[in-house]
Amino acid sequence: MLTYKKMLQQSKNAIPEAILLLLRYYRIIAVTSCTCAMKVRAYAKINLGLNVLGKRPDGYHSIETVFRLIDLYDEIEILQNDQGIHFATNSPELSNDNSNLCVQAAHLLRDLTGIHTGVEITLTKRIPIGAGLGGGSSDAAAVLKGLTKLWTLDITRDELQTVSATLGSDVPFFLTGLTAFATGRGDILESFDLQIPYTILLVTPKIHVSTAWAYSQIHPLQGVKRHNLRAVLDGSMGDAQRLQKELLNDFENAVFQHYPDIASIKSTLLAEGAACALMSGSGSSVFGFFSNPSVARDLAQRLSGKYATSVTDPSFKPVIN
Ligand code: C5P
Repeated sequence: MLTYKKMLQQSKNAIPEAILLLLRYYRIIAVTSCTCAMKVRAYAKINLGLNVLGKRPDGYHSIETVFRLIDLYDEIEILQNDQGIHFATNSPELSNDNSNLCVQAAHLLRDLTGIHTGVEITLTKRIPIGAGLGGGSSDAAAVLKGLTKLWTLDITRDELQTVSATLGSDVPFFLTGLTAFATGRGDILESFDLQIPYTILLVTPKIHVSTAWAYSQIHPLQGVKRHNLRAVLDGSMGDAQRLQKELLNDFENAVFQHYPDIASIKSTLLAEGAACALMSGSGSSVFGFFSNPSVARDLAQRLSGKYATSVTDPSFKPVIN
């Protein structure tokens, strides 16, 4: 019997070698010109205020915060292949294995859709790790967005947002836009149109704060009256004194006590003219709002020997992947 394999071999034998070479050449061109690779940006966030309201039955905490993207990003290259999910990074602090959230994001999407295509993910890390900037979560969200496009998946943003929370509480935010008001464990989002008329200077010491540890240090009191974060941000953006008094992060006390260097960064930012300074997330980064851009840039330069620094202009708009 003539099997398919034999037929293929016979037809191949009938084609002159030169034509086979040409066919191979065009196949290579076709493969390299298909949409099988992409580069995406994964931006960092800061928390414009963070209230920890109470402990939930599932072990997480109910919070209230405003997430805001800043002009600092990781780059992720995604390349389609046929041999599973591979991951590589330039960061010596991360391991090149399946534990990375990028890999978990790719597996999540494959499980969800039943797709079997493989990918090579290369992460160029710039966002400091363990710094309250959501870098790992943002990388995961960028992989989810990138693969949804690359594999032209029929999945809505809402569905993606719901499943993304299984990777981390703030992953859903990174699938949205520039600013969001977040409740729940940080995964329930409302869009929030906010102008920030300041240059934001971010300062990160070489300290990694574990989010789980920071939450374990907090004992929220039920029924304590809080400032409404949206009202504070909407109403006091031009009022530096009120902003500094009312824009609070519940992690600061515990984290500053344990890591005095983080507290001293906040003092430095204020002493150098910041209208307001606050720790982001559970630390270790601290950001300051500056009315004068050159003061912020000059300070970034001076601090850069000891700390990682980054500056975000008031006109910043993230590049949409
Ligand atoms: O969700 P994510 O993986 O970022 O959370 C890391 C840890 O931080 C959780 O395991 C939990 O201990 C703590 N956490 C919390 N409440 C939240 C978010 C995180 O207790 N809203």
